[in-house]
Amino acid sequence: MKSHQPVASSRVPKSLELFERALRLIPGGTQLVSRRPSRSSYGVSPIYAERANGARFWDVDGHEYIDWMSGIGSVLLGYCDPVVDDAVREQISLGTIYSINHELEIELAEALCRHIPCAEMVRYAKCGGEACAIAVRIARGVTGRDRVLFCGYHGWHDWYLAANLAESSGLDAHLLPDIEPIGVPRGLAGTAVPFAYGDAAALGEQLGQHRGQIAAIIMEPLRSELPPDGYLAAVRQLATKHGAVLIFDEVSAGLRFGMGGAQGALGVTPDMAVFAKSISNGYPMAAVVGRREVMEPAAQMFISSTYWSDTIGLRAALTTLREVERRGVPHQLEVFGAKLKARLNAIASEVGLPAVCCGVDVHPHLEFELDNPQLVPAVKTLYIQEMAKRGCHGNTAFYLNAAQGDAELEQTAAAVREVFAIIRDGLAADNVSQLLECAPQHDAFRRLVR
Ligand SMILES: Cc1ncc(COP(=O)(O)O)c(C=O)c1O
Repeated sequence: MKSHQPVASSRVPKSLELFERALRLIPGGTQLVSRRPSRSSYGVSPIYAERANGARFWDVDGHEYIDWMSGIGSVLLGYCDPVVDDAVREQISLGTIYSINHELEIELAEALCRHIPCAEMVRYAKCGGEACAIAVRIARGVTGRDRVLFCGYHGWHDWYLAANLAESSGLDAHLLPDIEPIGVPRGLAGTAVPFAYGDAAALGEQLGQHRGQIAAIIMEPLRSELPPDGYLAAVRQLATKHGAVLIFDEVSAGLRFGMGGAQGALGVTPDMAVFAKSISNGYPMAAVVGRREVMEPAAQMFISSTYWSDTIGLRAALTTLREVERRGVPHQLEVFGAKLKARLNAIASEVGLPAVCCGVDVHPHLEFELDNPQLVPAVKTLYIQEMAKRGCHGNTAFYLNAAQGDAELEQTAAAVREVFAIIRDGLAADNVSQLLECAPQHDAFRRLVR
């Protein structure tokens, strides 16, 4: 099964049927590129969920899965966390949105300012990309400059996709190769310029080239590896020297690293930071936080939306913050991630597969170190395919949540043992592609949409 066709013999026929229906009505079929079935093992991996609880979800075909993607990183305490959900239910009974404001806005701002080093003032939004766009708008407004230096992924908005107007490969290393900035005004060419993570000297040169023009440096402080020694401190110094607003995008990192976010854990304080996903355990909520001097001028800027005051997200975030702290979730994830890594690495060496589970403990990932690197996409897809059959949903990166425990670790370790052996034998017999029941996973956007 190499295309988007329902196949009677598939283990997920209902998912495939729904996806066919979706394609007729929804351009691209899904709302998030990461939920496109071509990102998993098409025809084997689940495409539509029916319900979720704790560390697991059930698909429309009746299969149960451990969810190693944790709602694409948005679920930190586990699905249907009883404390957060009770708080939300109580809020629903009081009304979710009003014609005037609610005290929760202030309470959440106070909590964020208590925990996050750079936070002195706060604005809200509903999604990560939207919050990044707000942060960039504020930085441009405060500095009176247009150009932004960025590193990593920051959503779908014009300011960011503009990177591919001047240079068609601008987003290749940060998002996906082959993204055409269709619909992004050509006049924005040159306003978003990528920089490479980890090289402070190169960033310094770029700042020098655009002296006096850079409004903001926006970056993920880290993703799955720790930054090189002194790197973030050097970025901090460069931003200050060049009068650029330093923005940390903590949408994915967020509370996983501690109550102060990655900035608290790494000891480098930006001027602004963006939080979403993990702060509200799956309920839509985002926050732009920052130093008073940078945030206060936002009062003069037109940044305004009805649903940013929605009390469901506010209540969910406030409760999630409290529960993450009370339960010591960042430490729990660190301990669990270290255990997961050690277990998978032991299995890889027992089975004799050149695979390694590495990266920071709270966000580990698998790497296949093959003699022929061209085989990696097929091997990754085979891994995803065979893990799905064994009730483990995800790709080669593990998004941890606090509901995962020994049962998930044991089931996953048993599945990994079998799947690593299949891959080892497939590599030895040179027949990995024959073992695939779908097209190999591909990362180029143009191929994802066809
Ligand atoms: C670092 C980062 N920034 C921004 C976003 C966009 O967030 P959203 O999908 O909520 O718009 C994401 C989403 O994965 C992200 O990881």
